Amino acid sequence: MKIDGHTRTCGLIGNPVEHTLSPVIHNTLAEIMGHNMVYVPLRVEETLVEQAVNGANALNLLGCNVTVPHKSAVIPYLADIDELAKNIGAVNTLVRVPGGFKGYNTDMTGLKRALLSEGIDLSQEEAVVILGAGGASRAVAFLCASLGVKTTYLLNRSVDKAEAVACEVNSATRQGAIIPMSIADYKKIPVDSFVCLQGTSVGLYPNVKDVVIDDDDFYKKVKVGFDLIYKPAKTEFMNRVEANGGKAVNGLKMLMYQGFDAYELWNECKITKEAEEAVYKKLVEATRV
Ligand code: ATR
Repeated sequence: MKIDGHTRTCGLIGNPVEHTLSPVIHNTLAEIMGHNMVYVPLRVEETLVEQAVNGANALNLLGCNVTVPHKSAVIPYLADIDELAKNIGAVNTLVRVPGGFKGYNTDMTGLKRALLSEGIDLSQEEAVVILGAGGASRAVAFLCASLGVKTTYLLNRSVDKAEAVACEVNSATRQGAIIPMSIADYKKIPVDSFVCLQGTSVGLYPNVKDVVIDDDDFYKKVKVGFDLIYKPAKTEFMNRVEANGGKAVNGLKMLMYQGFDAYELWNECKITKEAEEAVYKKLVEATRV
């Protein structure tokens, strides 16, 4: 990597940032795509989010990613916000516009792109099941509703959280598409075949044998199971889906494509197949357990 007077900087605003894989994604892309750009982690304390966004603007940063816990906190300091990100209420990408930055949510456009790369077009699905109602599942529920999925069953251990998320998504999208349920009631899902998005933290490394629903009758109905977890590469949820004849996908491509969507916005380009393959290989190596 050659750094000179023309090098542009992108950064990741978050806390902590030490375990991020985003520098691997973006610095590999810059090298292969031939952009004079460098990507660095920028740890920001919770009390300094406004200064960080204004500082990034003052320092002429090309763009930023934003990670936990600042994805909502940055919003008041943006010059503009994309419609999907506004609905979700969370931003993970800042793109330079006149007067500051515009906020996007490429976590969700990245998930959409990851699903499409596996042949899954959510907008064509009649029914989707989401497991979990935390930050990740909430954003997935927004994506499903915004893509026009007819019915999305949102299952959570604590049903009040599922109800709160469903209420929020349904009123923001002016549809009643999200149906909240307790995870214990999974047998009551009134469909026989569905795409299932696993958004709980159950099965995350090192608890690799854990699974949120332990019943083959459930997995027999899962035609495609997408686990948002990418470490381990094959979760117990994915094992169950495959053992019952479904297709299983992990969250690594979602991670990769949220980065690609951000990179393409910053550099006004389209990631080449060669760059994609190189990044994917590096991410697989970086997440091997
Ligand atoms: P994130 O922002 O990554 O989604 P989170 O907000 O902490 O993380 O959410 C974690 C999700 O995993 C929640 O849906 C949580 O269920 P509760 O809301 O009932 O806590 C779910 N989860 C965590 N451990 C679980 C377990 N042992 N069984 C079932 N669900 C679990």
